[in-house]
Order: sequence, then structure tokens, then C-alpha cells
Amino acid sequence: MERPPKYTADNLTTIQSFILQEARRHPNASGEFSWLLSAIALAGKVIAAKIRRVHLDPVLDIGGDNVHGEQQKPMDLVANEIIIRCLGDRTDLGLLGSEEETEPVQLRSAEEGGKYSVLFDPLDGSANLGLGVGVGTIFSILRHEQALDAEAPHLQIGRKQVAAGYILYGPSTVLVLSTGRGVHMFSLDPAVGAFVLVRPDLMIPSGGKTYSLNEANADSFGPGWRDWLSGCRRTGWRSRYIGSMVADVHRTLLEGGVFAYPPTARHTEGKLRLMYEANPMAFLIEQAGGRGDTGEGPILDIKPTHVHQRVPVILGDQVGVDQLLKTLRR
Ligand code: AHG
Ligand code: MN
Ligand code: MN
Repeated sequence: MERPPKYTADNLTTIQSFILQEARRHPNASGEFSWLLSAIALAGKVIAAKIRRVHLDPVLDIGGDNVHGEQQKPMDLVANEIIIRCLGDRTDLGLLGSEEETEPVQLRSAEEGGKYSVLFDPLDGSANLGLGVGVGTIFSILRHEQALDAEAPHLQIGRKQVAAGYILYGPSTVLVLSTGRGVHMFSLDPAVGAFVLVRPDLMIPSGGKTYSLNEANADSFGPGWRDWLSGCRRTGWRSRYIGSMVADVHRTLLEGGVFAYPPTARHTEGKLRLMYEANPMAFLIEQAGGRGDTGEGPILDIKPTHVHQRVPVILGDQVGVDQLLKTLRR
């Protein structure tokens, strides 16, 4: 039997070779899934290049509103277009759903060979664009099942994701990916134009004492949330909040602790979107040994009713999330 490859940060492994190695482990794989992932990696490189020019290119600098009634930056639309252009010709792709589109785009029916849905937040944290902090792209891939309603093949629970990940455009461009066998981190080497594996098999450290949420909303959090916050403050936790989910979750993945967006007076269902933000991030966090919950159950078990659905989000290491959930359920 062929020995599985040993991924270490010492070997030079690009995301392309990593994806191909992964595909070889699945003898029946068509290769199309690998094509989807490589299209996403390509989109990440193109978006990273645009973001570096955001202060230099005047067309990238005007605002508007998206389907959620939120300020929409030109870069939101540019990132959206780039992803659609990179993925559009992948023949197994049935449906593309974006935070920036009113409805998901049906590209190919099952009969025409559409096997996968890709859902994405093209530019997460775009309000921070131009402020010198990290912004990102989040993606989620689902395989269509025969039994599912052909009208909405993407409305599946998050546990069924076949891959999820994000690209963080920060001091370096980082791609974090899971295909359901651990979490792997790649960094874009600008000298060669390739994402290179830097942290294989990432595990979230347990017992981190950092909480990450918008504390300005604390007066409208439920009493359990406020008790938990006071407990954290009394016991030496620190607070870190960038306001870009990708950057805040990335720190949580590397250092442990808890990231959360609870229900608030303004966003009674929570602010973050299940299919573009909560599900892919919960998939990564669980794959890294952490826990993702809404306060009322695992994020990954929610049966979606709508592509733009919002949910309360708690993501973090086991110890921190357990403690928060215990306080919420008291
Ligand atoms: P997006 O830029 O895709 O609309 O997402 C913004 C989200 C997320 O990145 C972040 O965690 C959250 O909004 C911050 O919200 P507040 O400003 O309300 O804290
Ligand atoms: Mn977002
Ligand atoms: Mn966005």
C-alpha cells in the first residue's frame, strides 16, 4: 500500500501539490474538486494583488450598499467578480453563492454535471479596508446529493462541507484550508507566486485566555453573556477585537481563546451569516480540535433555511467554549 505523504513545514509543498496528493488518496476522485480548490487559490492571489493597490487605484475607493443593507466597498464587488471569474469555468461547479449576490447563481444542473456548490464571503471585514488591518475571503464547498431539492442543493448542514477555508490578506497572505482531514496553513510567497505549506495539521491551543467580541454591544447581550464577560475580566483574560472575522478567527485558531458574535439589540439573530462565515469557520475550528456553537447547539448541525441566514457565533478552544456555554445555560 502506498504510504501517505508526510507533510512537514521543512518540505517545500505548494498548495497545488498538496491538493494533488490529497486527491490521490481518493481513488474515485474526478480531479474536479482539486480544480475548484486551485481556482480559489488563484482568486486569493488575484484579490491579494488588488488589495495591495487599494490606496493607489481611485476606482477601488467609492462606497454603496450590499444586499444586507451594509456599506459596500468597490473592493467587495471586485473580489466577488474575481472569484466568479476564477471559478466560473470549472465544469463540476453547479452553484455559486456569494454574500454580495441577492440569490445564488445556478451554473449547471445535476444533469449538466454540476456536483458542487461553492459559497463565499468575497471580502470579509471590508469596512477595515484601507485601515491597515487584515481582511479576508471565506469559502465553503458542499457536494450535491441526489436526495436534495434540486432548487436549493446548497441548503445543507455545515457538517456536510467537503472543504472550507479562508484567505487572510494581512502582513502576509495566508490560506487556511481543511478538506476534512485536519487544518493546514499556507503562506503566499510573493517571490514565486505560490502558496507554500507552512503549518500542517494546525491544532487550536487549549485554555487560551483571550476573548474577541464587540464589547460596545455588551449592554444588549443576554445576562449569561454579561456574566461570562465579567468572569473573564475577573480572571485575567485579555480582550482583542479587530472587527474582521477572518483576522479575529485566525488569531483564535493560532492562540486559543474565544471569538464570538452574540445576538444584540440590532442583530437579534446574530450578525454573521451561517453559510459564508459561521459554517466554514466552525468546520475549520472543529477540524483543529476546537468547538463552534450558537449558544443553543453546534453551528455545523443547523439546517439552513436561507442562503443569507444569520446566526449567533461562538468559536474557540474546547475549554473556553465549554466554560461560556456552561455560563449561558445556568
Ligand atoms: P463583512 O465585511 O463581510 O460584511 O463582514 C463584517 C463582519 C465580520 O468580519 C466581523 O466579525 C463583524 O462584521 C464585525 O462587526 P461589528 O463591527 O458589528 O463588530
Ligand atoms: Mn464577512
Ligand atoms: Mn464581506
